[in-house]
Amino acid sequence: MSTFAPQRVMLRDGSEVVLRCFRPGADMAAWCEMIRACNRETLWRRFELRSADAVLSRPGDFCRCEPGSDFILVAERGGKILGEARLCLFPDGETAEFCVLVADPWQGLGLGSLLTDTALEAARRLGLKRLVVEVVPENVRIVRLLERRGFAFRRDPDGRIFRGEKTMG
Ligand SMILES: CC(C)(COP(=O)(O)OP(=O)(O)OC[C@H]1O[C@@H](n2cnc3c(N)ncnc32)[C@H](O)[C@@H]1OP(=O)(O)O)[C@@H](O)C(=O)NCCC(=O)NCCS
Repeated sequence: MSTFAPQRVMLRDGSEVVLRCFRPGADMAAWCEMIRACNRETLWRRFELRSADAVLSRPGDFCRCEPGSDFILVAERGGKILGEARLCLFPDGETAEFCVLVADPWQGLGLGSLLTDTALEAARRLGLKRLVVEVVPENVRIVRLLERRGFAFRRDPDGRIFRGEKTMG
């Protein structure tokens, strides 16, 4: 979607990670390893699937990185991918769906917030006008995190999904 200069950031435990763009092909093995480091609940909240095998049987769906359509930001340390945030561009060219995932061993260290803030900044630089997100209603943590960043949420009529939306300022 665009070039993004790698950034070194510090987590709450004092360790450093690099935020950089996902490299299709080269990062695939590390991405799969990240998925295997996620528990069932984490996978459900991100993919609405409950096993790593189910996610990894559809890598084309979740590791798609087509030039001009997806911006995938990963957090890397020592060759491991600890988490990712992505913007999947809609055909209107102005809207993207936002998603974020931090594998369980690295949750609670500020990485989800850092990935989110960096992806929002990238969305601004890309000139996107609107971000949307879909989350399962029990995912209070991400709803709070995104509400603090200007997303407004409403529950689908059937109650199965919370839809969030942010107009970029
Ligand atoms: C949501 C998610 C990305 C947050 O990542 P993270 O690295 O743990 O986030 P942070 O450490 O930056 O913390 C974000 C907030 O969650 C809170 N939090 C972190 N770990 C928590 C825990 N175990 N229990 C409750 N709250 C927690 C933090 O206190 C923080 O709130 P604050 O900003 O008020 O302090 C991560 O939990 C995750 O990947 N969840 C599964 C996938 C998902 O839900 N994706 C969103 C749908 S697209």
